[in-house]
Amino acid sequence: MSSHKILILGAAGQIGSELTAKLRAIHGKDNVIASDINYNNTALVNSGIFEIVDALNYVSLKVCCEKYNIDTIYLMVAMLSAKGEKYPMKAWDLNVTSLFNVLNLAKAKFINKIFWPSSIAVFGPTTPKENAPQYTITEPNTVYGMTKLIGERWCQYYNEKYDVDIRSLRYPGIISWKTLPGGGTTDYAVEIYYEALAKKKYNCFLAENTELPMMYMDDAIEATVAIMSVPTGGIKIRSSYNISAVSYTPKQVAESIKKHIPEFEISYSPDFRQDIANSWPKRIDDSEARKDWGWRHKFDLELITNEMLKQLSRK
Ligand code: SER
Repeated sequence: MSSHKILILGAAGQIGSELTAKLRAIHGKDNVIASDINYNNTALVNSGIFEIVDALNYVSLKVCCEKYNIDTIYLMVAMLSAKGEKYPMKAWDLNVTSLFNVLNLAKAKFINKIFWPSSIAVFGPTTPKENAPQYTITEPNTVYGMTKLIGERWCQYYNEKYDVDIRSLRYPGIISWKTLPGGGTTDYAVEIYYEALAKKKYNCFLAENTELPMMYMDDAIEATVAIMSVPTGGIKIRSSYNISAVSYTPKQVAESIKKHIPEFEISYSPDFRQDIANSWPKRIDDSEARKDWGWRHKFDLELITNEMLKQLSRK
């Protein structure tokens, strides 16, 4: 148990929902306030303290922080890459304004610590495809990627100018079974397991050899908890850390599924998301995270497939 009071914004989402459960286990149920903009995720709403908070509304955020004496915010609100291409101005507003609101709460000393995820989407077609380094060319060509890149710059700026304790990870595609992802380019790598169990076939919106960095949810949550536990001086990068686990293609996922479901068939109909996938690196060099705070991943593709099929069949 700790004396930290935590607010999770976007707690109903794919990562937020699992992060909420983990942080409640660590810090105690009453010390972790989950929030989102509706009551749709009933499992989450009924599992502990839940508040309706719009991260775009500074006043409502501040009121919630004061009500619960919040010291740490996890800002898990975002419009992802594929949806962002359909609603560019909404994506810009949601992703950037929510970050400013939280950064400004910290600048005004209402809170003192922030976690905000960045993404592999900060990279673009001019980034090296193999082992994209921590410091490299970042010329994203999606709105989502642009919001994450500018967000990283502001995080570093607020850390340097206003001493805001902000920590960030460049998440790859996150694979999980509890809450569906929505609006991302890497979503195929989750959908494929649902369809494999329900229909024994899947029509993939990316081409068979599209290799992208991926990570199992448990690893992503471990990384998030780990970076937030490091003493302040241990965080050398205040923009966002590269982190990676595995990289694979739709064809490789299909092969790993066939080991469990031999009849499974995959077909390919690449759509607009193919261009987004093509603009991202295949692999990420995360040696800074491994060196600075001991990051290690556990799940490779075989383990991910085992877990996904096992958990989804139970569900
Ligand atoms: N999973 C995200 C997306 O596909 C990448 O951060 O948009």
